[in-house]
Amino acid sequence: MATRDLGENLLRLAVHASPSGILIVDAGGEIVFANEALLGMFDYELDELLGQPVEVLVPPVDVELHRKHREKFGARPVPRAMGRRESFGAVRKDGEEFSVEIGLRPTEVEGERMVVATIIDVTERRRIEERLRRYDEHLEELIEQRTQELREAQAQKEQVVERLIQSEKLAAIGTLVSGIGHEINNPLYMILGTAEALQDATDVDDCRQFGTEIIEHCRKISGTVTNLSRYARPGSMDNTQTVDLNDVVEAAIESVHRTKRSDEVDIVWTRQPVAEVPGRPDELQQALFNVIRNAVQASGEHGVIRIGLEERDDSVDVMVRDNGPGIPEEHRSKVFDPFFSTKGPDDGEGLGLYIVRQIVSRHGGDIQVTCGEGTTFTLRFPASPKTDRGETS
Ligand SMILES: Nc1ncnc2c1ncn2[C@@H]1O[C@H](COP(=O)(O)OP(=O)(O)OP(=O)(O)O)[C@@H](O)[C@H]1O
Ligand SMILES: [Mg+2]
Repeated sequence: MATRDLGENLLRLAVHASPSGILIVDAGGEIVFANEALLGMFDYELDELLGQPVEVLVPPVDVELHRKHREKFGARPVPRAMGRRESFGAVRKDGEEFSVEIGLRPTEVEGERMVVATIIDVTERRRIEERLRRYDEHLEELIEQRTQELREAQAQKEQVVERLIQSEKLAAIGTLVSGIGHEINNPLYMILGTAEALQDATDVDDCRQFGTEIIEHCRKISGTVTNLSRYARPGSMDNTQTVDLNDVVEAAIESVHRTKRSDEVDIVWTRQPVAEVPGRPDELQQALFNVIRNAVQASGEHGVIRIGLEERDDSVDVMVRDNGPGIPEEHRSKVFDPFFSTKGPDDGEGLGLYIVRQIVSRHGGDIQVTCGEGTTFTLRFPASPKTDRGETS
């Protein structure tokens, strides 16, 4: 029938057009059909394969094993899909071996058991997979190598930072030692000179005067040492109070007003409602005093110093801004070093900001200096927890 013929033709066309090789093998393992794709794949003509044992397509080393598998499959034939297992070896007519994936489907044709095998050549796929695997390995090697390089760079960076810290520390110790030398040697020489004069003095009033001078110089040395040691130690922060920084600023301004040249400047400030901070009022006052006195000394005549308080999320800032000459860039990292001072011996020891920083950091705070028109010192203190302030969060 035309339709039946057309159907058979269509089926034949479809089978031959399939890009997969199709092979039909009978119960005895003989090839009874092969489509065009399979013939192309194994490089055979159809009549060379028909009637041949399927093992002609299997590499010689696998022939025995294949036969056993085939017999086992013949005894319990169950369909096996492709791609679920590893690939198998296959051999072309000229002996060249290649990889295939095989799907098996048992069937019966006119009462005889047959197996339809669908075969695809996976050589190219395997090659790509292999290339991908090698590429993957290469990538892993590259990552490992880069990680190692990064680790080494990080280690080098840490070494450089460590060296920098060491040299900064050494420089700070140098400043400290020369400062101590300077601050202590000067009064020491005075004491020595006065004591020598005392040895030769006969007049009682002279002796008293020399004695008084010696005591003064000794007090100066003692003051320097006390200043240094009092703030150099980490100091316990037990027994802190809840402090309103407005009171601290007010008291510090009052003290500054008692120092010389403070009447030449205008100190502008108004109380601001800010959170309280835990701390030691006397120390906080000393810190603020030092910063404000520096501002007074820097601004000179007609100077204006503005002091502001500002509450941030969990902290309170105190800003002290003057309209003085500012601090040269190269000095900014040194101003907190002990004994760093650009003032004359009667105006500054160079301990003021060193002490400020000790106090601020033992209060868990932070101090920053910025220069624009004049200088601004910002001291930031952690605020007391909200519950301590009687607020609900
Ligand atoms: N507001 C400011 N404007 C310009 N320079 C400043 C200011 N504050 C500090 N400095 C610079 O920082 C240096 C160190 O200040 P610090 O308060 O530590 O010491 P000092 O004022 O020189 O001496 P001391 O405070 O011990 O009497 C000052 O000598 C000065 O050069
Ligand atoms: Mg000072």
